[in-house]
Amino acid sequence: MHASGAASDPSPGIARRTSYVSEPRAAAVRGRSPVDRQLYARIARSGERVSAVEVSGLGKAFDGRPALEDVSFSIAPGTVLGLLGVNGAGKTTTVRILSTLVRPDAGRAVVNGFDLRSNPGGIRKSIGLSGQNAALDAYLTGREALELVARLRGLPSRPSKLEATRLMERFELGFVAGQQVRTYSGGIKRRLDLAACLIGSPPVLFLDEPTAGLDPYGRRALREAVRSETARGAAVLLTTQQLEEAETLADELVILHDGRVVSRGSTASVKAAAGAAVRLSVTVAAADVESSANILAASGATSHSTSEDECEVTVALASSREAMGAIARLIDAGVDVCSLRLDEPKLEDVFISLTGACDGSHARQI
Ligand SMILES: Nc1ncnc2c1ncn2[C@@H]1O[C@H](COP(=O)(O)OP(=O)(O)OP(=O)(O)O)[C@@H](O)[C@H]1O
Ligand SMILES: [Mg+2]
Repeated sequence: MHASGAASDPSPGIARRTSYVSEPRAAAVRGRSPVDRQLYARIARSGERVSAVEVSGLGKAFDGRPALEDVSFSIAPGTVLGLLGVNGAGKTTTVRILSTLVRPDAGRAVVNGFDLRSNPGGIRKSIGLSGQNAALDAYLTGREALELVARLRGLPSRPSKLEATRLMERFELGFVAGQQVRTYSGGIKRRLDLAACLIGSPPVLFLDEPTAGLDPYGRRALREAVRSETARGAAVLLTTQQLEEAETLADELVILHDGRVVSRGSTASVKAAAGAAVRLSVTVAAADVESSANILAASGATSHSTSEDECEVTVALASSREAMGAIARLIDAGVDVCSLRLDEPKLEDVFISLTGACDGSHARQI
């Protein structure tokens, strides 16, 4: 359910600060403006649950081929939703629909209290978008490009300059501030695009593969930016192929496959729902790798992988009891197990099991 002071009265120009507050990060929003405090108190009294992004039954086809089918999720203010999926799963299409760049064929979406169909303008004022391909004027300098975005979002001249400086510092762009964007390397362009997306502190951020092409410093800056944006109450939709990054940053995950949601929830609940509670790794002689992989895969594994150089076979299993049974079967088959390890399953195991299980082409292979 939604509660909004903004839905019928969007401020012109710059996006309003978040007008939604909810328990998970309420402390971050508490103590902001008197309006926010009053809104929080009202919601706390009513026990109402609110979302910054609410998506329900979203569908889209291109040339008769479904790209999204019945996609639903929500994002609470001050939280990060990680939208995951193999290439072509529908992540960018979802982001483009929610950013009002593509019309959905079915379903409903409400972003910052604005309905996608009836008030796309309100959504555009509420979001910061960093798309898969950076889109900034190549003939402006980096500083000019950021100042232009700030002015387009309704900031006056001096605040625009301050905002450009703040974000150039955040993404360590000072050394290229006076150069034309067309001379930037790919990773530096990506940093500038991320800086542009954060201008004006929008309440909702759509980050489509934001770390693609970033070096470790850029990735760290992005992580810090996401944390500080959520701390002020922003809701973030993040797509990434870096599963560890999703695990680190996201409060909730949605895994898409062939345009459908195949799993949704916290990282722990996504892992549990996929039946992956334990990751068993065994190192065996090179000659035994194939037979070991077959034995382990037949032991109820949700995924398995083989590392040829280290002769290590890894499987995700539903319980440590199953892992013990799998080890016993290896020994019964005469496999010489050199070493074994039990760990928590990785998100990658679960991702492979979910996306491989739905599509014969990757069936149960890492
Ligand atoms: N403009 C378009 N015209 C036709 N088909 C499209 C268009 N945009 C996307 N598609 C198709 O929709 C499906 C989903 O594409 P989308 O770009 O959303 O995937 P993705 O999950 O973002 O993939 P990636 O990880 O490669 O970025 C794909 O089959 C893609 O080919
Ligand atoms: Mg994409």
